[in-house]
Amino acid sequence: MLKGKKIILGVSGGIAAYKACELVSRLKKLNAEVHVIMTASAAKFVTPLTFQSLSLNQVVVDMFEAPNYWEIEHISLAKLADVIVVAPATANIIGKLANGIADDMLSTTIMATRAKVIIAPAMNTNMYENPVLQRNIRLLSELGYTIVPPDEGRLACGDVGKGRMPDPSVIEKSIIDLLNFRQDMKGRTVLVTAGPTREAIDPVRFISNNSTGKMGYAIAGQAALRGAKVYLVSGPTILDAPAGVEKYNVISAEEMYNKVMELFPMCDIVIKAAAVADYAPMTSYSQKVKKLDSELELKLKRNPDILYELGKIKGNRILVGFAMETENLVENAAEKVKKKNLDFIAANDLNEEGAGFAVDTNAVKLIDREGNVESIPLKTKHEVADIILDRIMNIKRT
Ligand code: C5P
Repeated sequence: MLKGKKIILGVSGGIAAYKACELVSRLKKLNAEVHVIMTASAAKFVTPLTFQSLSLNQVVVDMFEAPNYWEIEHISLAKLADVIVVAPATANIIGKLANGIADDMLSTTIMATRAKVIIAPAMNTNMYENPVLQRNIRLLSELGYTIVPPDEGRLACGDVGKGRMPDPSVIEKSIIDLLNFRQDMKGRTVLVTAGPTREAIDPVRFISNNSTGKMGYAIAGQAALRGAKVYLVSGPTILDAPAGVEKYNVISAEEMYNKVMELFPMCDIVIKAAAVADYAPMTSYSQKVKKLDSELELKLKRNPDILYELGKIKGNRILVGFAMETENLVENAAEKVKKKNLDFIAANDLNEEGAGFAVDTNAVKLIDREGNVESIPLKTKHEVADIILDRIMNIKRT
């Protein structure tokens, strides 16, 4: 997603420097080229080697080290950058940038760049609220720097208030936004469900399925990048919430039903990529079920079909479902479009190599209300997600 984009991450000396490690690893996952510049005090909190290992690039701290680039280093990094991000940004670096002081590698590089600059202040509340710092931030903001405001909460020093560096996913989102992704979904509110559900048999056992949530997370992430407000209701997965997405964790189909019904009125697009368990144990035992010498019979009850229920109250919303089939893919999926009152369904053929559970690719057939079938050949789940969102954006509402 950030392939070919060159991001300079400036890390200054605050305890939140450790969070910048996660930011680097998130940006690398999106295929960005990341170069880290640390201030001398940042290098006291986290070693340059950590950032070097994560970014796979030499980390620059000292301006007068032998240069690794053929031009003078601070100039070459300044020219190279598509965007420069300072996270965490201390009161000191903010003060320097706002007042034209360039006395180390980070401040000189920023002084010498024409790239856009993002600043994520992080510090003690009293420092943050200091009028001098507030003036400096205002000044930078007026000069076109993007400021990602800090969160409120418990700070490392024990104080409670404004000053925590926002979650790396928030900074990642502002980088992506700044790099000008198409914002064609601005103003739309999307609800995505993803992952499996778990239906408890007793406190330690459950019924579930092989869904990993990858397809739904890719859809939620792409929709957020394209400017939509995104709610992601997710069953248990090991995936990180994509940048800019509001995520709600649920376990059972019933919990998913309740959360989806609560969010549904706020949304105009709903994409149900979750693999919801159709059945749940009739009784969920409060104590662990003991081994018996005889067979054990488990009685199952039907779970609510969330999508079917949404279809009944759909109104003007766009409703998209997923279908996993092992036989008669198109016929079965087309049947579901009608039964659940969908705009279209994305049908996964579980027999096709590279499609379905636990892989990063998918091949789907999109089947609409008229029975038209569009075959999407094997692509990454993010590419498939974008195609699904493209089709949604092409649906005209009267
Ligand atoms: O009928 P089937 O389970 O194959 O339909 C799959 C679609 O219906 C998916 O979009 C899935 O998220 C949704 N579904 C649901 N609630 C259920 C079962 C499936 O919302 N209980």
